[in-house]
Amino acid sequence: MGELFRRFWLPAVMASELAAEGAPVRLRILCEDLIAFRNSEGKVGIIDAYCAHRGAPLFFGRNEEGGVRCVYHGWKFAINGACLEIPNVAGDDTAQAQMRARAQLRAYQAHEANGVVWIYMGPVDKMPPFPKFDYANASAGHAYSARWMQRTNWLQGLEGEIDSSHISWLHKDFDPENSIQKMAGSQTSSDQAPVLELRETVSGYTYGARRNLDNEFFWRQSHWVAPMFSFIPHAPGAFASFGGRAWTPIDDNHVTVFTFGFRVDRPFSEQELATYESGALFPPEMNPGRYTLPDGYVIDTFLPTANKENDYGIDRQVQKDKNFSGIWGVHDQDRALAENSRKIGMGDPGILDRSHENLVSSDKAVVTARRSLVRMVEALQQGKEPDFLRNPGSFQVRAISKICSIGDFDQFIGEFGKEACVRLREGGEK
Ligand code: FES
Ligand SMILES: [Fe+2]
Repeated sequence: MGELFRRFWLPAVMASELAAEGAPVRLRILCEDLIAFRNSEGKVGIIDAYCAHRGAPLFFGRNEEGGVRCVYHGWKFAINGACLEIPNVAGDDTAQAQMRARAQLRAYQAHEANGVVWIYMGPVDKMPPFPKFDYANASAGHAYSARWMQRTNWLQGLEGEIDSSHISWLHKDFDPENSIQKMAGSQTSSDQAPVLELRETVSGYTYGARRNLDNEFFWRQSHWVAPMFSFIPHAPGAFASFGGRAWTPIDDNHVTVFTFGFRVDRPFSEQELATYESGALFPPEMNPGRYTLPDGYVIDTFLPTANKENDYGIDRQVQKDKNFSGIWGVHDQDRALAENSRKIGMGDPGILDRSHENLVSSDKAVVTARRSLVRMVEALQQGKEPDFLRNPGSFQVRAISKICSIGDFDQFIGEFGKEACVRLREGGEK
């Protein structure tokens, strides 16, 4: 699965975390320890976290004059991992050049787009074009993004995203009118057992959750783009934007969540940005901080204030009177369950133990994603990469929600598929 991820551009760090000649940011992505930094010219590099000389941590280095200099013996590295100087050894130019060539650090291609720095960690000759995600290519002010850490395997996070039936339960407020979570759409219908319809697309699938209203239907059409991009609609009319999440694995037990929102019609208003920042939805209320992973490596990330250590702020009275979970923010609710579900073994925090599941028809989206991922990994083992990687447009999908009289999902796609940018996979399973 790691190899599959290495064929994709992955969001890595927020651009605002990296100041020119500022402090390097410690990352772990796909189990590799890395630092991101912005050099004097404003260009971003993501390179090995450790110095090529004797493995000192470059996080403590000096970011100066076009590179990061290890504070142990002064070796200096550029954003492409090239060793620029070895100042603690005397030697003629040839000897110096040879030493510097040997000291090349691992470095990955970085791409800055709309406030987020993306990384490509695969073979250089397989690098795909940068995807045409709306949020990465939107005009200034039309996109919003943030990142934070969740203490689960990436797939468990994704599975919570693509599970449309839980919003009627976990995210339910008893007073829909005054719900801070109104825009998530869970209040639009009282139907708590949606009909889920799913169609495979060139890049994953699109699925519709249909709920009954008095004389019409309430549809939420979401998308999954492999391997870990979700596109989830807001309530109709409540917040006319599109959004989704991306789940970049830190290791098997931790994931960096990126949330993205954008609107096509106009820039976000102050009030909309304030709603994002409030922690009610995505992102959660959080603070920048450092986190020590179980093996002792420290990463720089954003830490939700509601967490495992404080039971996510659950209030049993609120659970009785105000909302179904007793937990405040939508993502806090998701994370409380994801981070504390039954796990395999005694690892910290451990991977969800799926051997005890009882999957039902409302889990269709989860099951199909698992099957597609296995299929993609098996194909990659045979040397076949996902075709859609070469077509940046296949990443452009939009989650929508509609109230209409159409009851059939294929008809719904016929009517609104263009708006949702649906590209069905020929011969795909229904
Ligand atoms: S360990 Fe970095 S310069 Fe020696
Ligand atoms: Fe949720």
